[in-house]
Amino acid sequence: MLRKATLTDAPHLARPAEDTFRDAFGALNAAHNMDAHCRTYFAEHIQAAEIAAHDHDTLLVERDATLVGFAQVRWGVAPRYVDDPSSGEIRRLYVSRAFHGAGVAQALMRACIDLIAQRGARCAWLGVWEHNPRAIAFYRKHAFVEVGEHIFQLGDDPQRDLIMVRSLV
Ligand SMILES: CC(C)(COP(=O)(O)OP(=O)(O)OC[C@H]1O[C@@H](n2cnc3c(N)ncnc32)[C@H](O)[C@@H]1OP(=O)(O)O)[C@@H](O)C(=O)NCCC(=O)NCCS
Repeated sequence: MLRKATLTDAPHLARPAEDTFRDAFGALNAAHNMDAHCRTYFAEHIQAAEIAAHDHDTLLVERDATLVGFAQVRWGVAPRYVDDPSSGEIRRLYVSRAFHGAGVAQALMRACIDLIAQRGARCAWLGVWEHNPRAIAFYRKHAFVEVGEHIFQLGDDPQRDLIMVRSLV
């Protein structure tokens, strides 16, 4: 089941969001940077604030009442490479490892694109770590193309993210 998150989901999102992030990136990064990032971004009150925020939409996919994937769309923060002030950012798209390749990510991507298109945006954009080949392949498969780069600060490590854009017109 795919649905929009509500405030009551915050306690149930915080732990799986952190676990998925650690599972994806923990082996490739210093522990103190992973810890700093998780403290800053995945605490329950932060999930609650993001779910409540007008410039965010959080989407959840559940199977047998267990969260297996989530995504977040955010508005209003496009980098200079994205020539559309109304564009939407796919800020997060995370699927539990057991469900990679199972269509969960596709469903989340479709829902994110629908949300962004419904707001009248001409494009969707995202940032993806240059050392995340699976995600880059997934986004290319979904018609995103690289247009630039920016720094994603993971703790004290400034990482290079590729900026990818998909036209919606
Ligand atoms: C990124 C993510 C959402 C994609 O979902 P998914 O279900 O794994 O995606 P898919 O299997 O449909 O597509 C991945 C593609 O990458 C390919 N791939 C897998 N490993 C790869 C690698 N090392 N290098 C290049 N391509 C790779 C797969 O073969 C597949 O392509 P195909 O369908 O043409 O065979 C999911 O892997 C995930 O949650 N990863 C961890 C969190 C993450 O990195 N999120 C993105 C942050 S920006």
